Amino acid sequence: MKKLFRKDFENQIPYKVEEVKPYNLGDNENRLIDWSHLADELSHVFKTYDYAFYGDSKYSELRQAVADSLGINPHQVLQGVGSDQMIQMVVETFLDPGQVLLTVSPDFFMYQAFSMAHGSKFKEFPLDENFQLDPVAFLAYAKEVNAKVIILSQPNNPLSMAHNPAVIEEIIRNFDGFVVIDEAYNDYADLESLVTRVDEFDNLIVLRTLSKSYGLAGLRVGFAISNAQLIYEMDKVLPPYNMSDLVAKIASHVINEHSGKVQELAEETKVIRNDFMEFLNEVGCQVLPSQTNFVTFRAPFTKQLWEIAQTRGFNFKYYSEGPLAGYCRVGIGRPEEMALLKELISELVEFQ
Ligand SMILES: Cc1ncc(COP(=O)(O)O)c(C=O)c1O
Repeated sequence: MKKLFRKDFENQIPYKVEEVKPYNLGDNENRLIDWSHLADELSHVFKTYDYAFYGDSKYSELRQAVADSLGINPHQVLQGVGSDQMIQMVVETFLDPGQVLLTVSPDFFMYQAFSMAHGSKFKEFPLDENFQLDPVAFLAYAKEVNAKVIILSQPNNPLSMAHNPAVIEEIIRNFDGFVVIDEAYNDYADLESLVTRVDEFDNLIVLRTLSKSYGLAGLRVGFAISNAQLIYEMDKVLPPYNMSDLVAKIASHVINEHSGKVQELAEETKVIRNDFMEFLNEVGCQVLPSQTNFVTFRAPFTKQLWEIAQTRGFNFKYYSEGPLAGYCRVGIGRPEEMALLKELISELVEFQ
């Protein structure tokens, strides 16, 4: 039987988190939000919901809620099981197996995972030593490797930094294929979203998620926003009833009723983030200018920090190799979690 398995997946291992630590700052979730009141607010929905049916195949209520909250049109919205499913849909809709998906290095690891599963070719263009993207060199590389789709997170995960918006626009305008801008962290950034500009371009797809600022990672809800024609093409490939109808109802309620609170908490997160960045700078760390709900930084003690932090209930990322070798990526947690982490960092600084 084994010989029938896919050769290119022979050495892959399934993505599983072994243990969720009490202070999990590794997944860039929203640790400030409290949705415990949702069960009461939605109790009439849960009581009267008819689980026997698939529900609305068009997800009209949800797409309308997203459109209203972003100032766009419902026909520009497609719903997905997390923005992950939208990445997968872009790959499956716009690439034939063997065609090239291009991103930068570093960028979000799932781009490669979906490309690999689909059978498209995956290429990465290295950012420079300051993690800047030269649009002319990038577009020349895109031509050289015959890229059909470009995908970039903006702001970038794992860097936390945003690309210059003018660079992004130059790429969208001058690339001959499709450009996907993944705005998972837009609510934490001082950046204008591209969602209201999708009709200006015939090749732009923007991705959004409820997993970060909305604090609904467990619901698995994301969206692709694009012009009606590209949405129609993606909808041909999307499985029918891809999202749970009940999840869509919960998500619609949250977007309609609580998007103000979400924005307020994003601002609070930014205050905690900026304070943490200031602290890290003061103790001599090299801190990338974060536009997200996580901070990426380097110091002589980051490996030690990561090792000790794990024994004290923390989880976050440490990069031992690659373009971020020596850096940590730490999600913004609750004030008390950040205080504990600062204490640990101060201890390590004293021992330097
Ligand atoms: C840049 C980026 N895009 C997409 C995702 C996936 O989010 P979702 O939970 O919506 O699938 C993440 C999650 O960490 C991310 O960092």
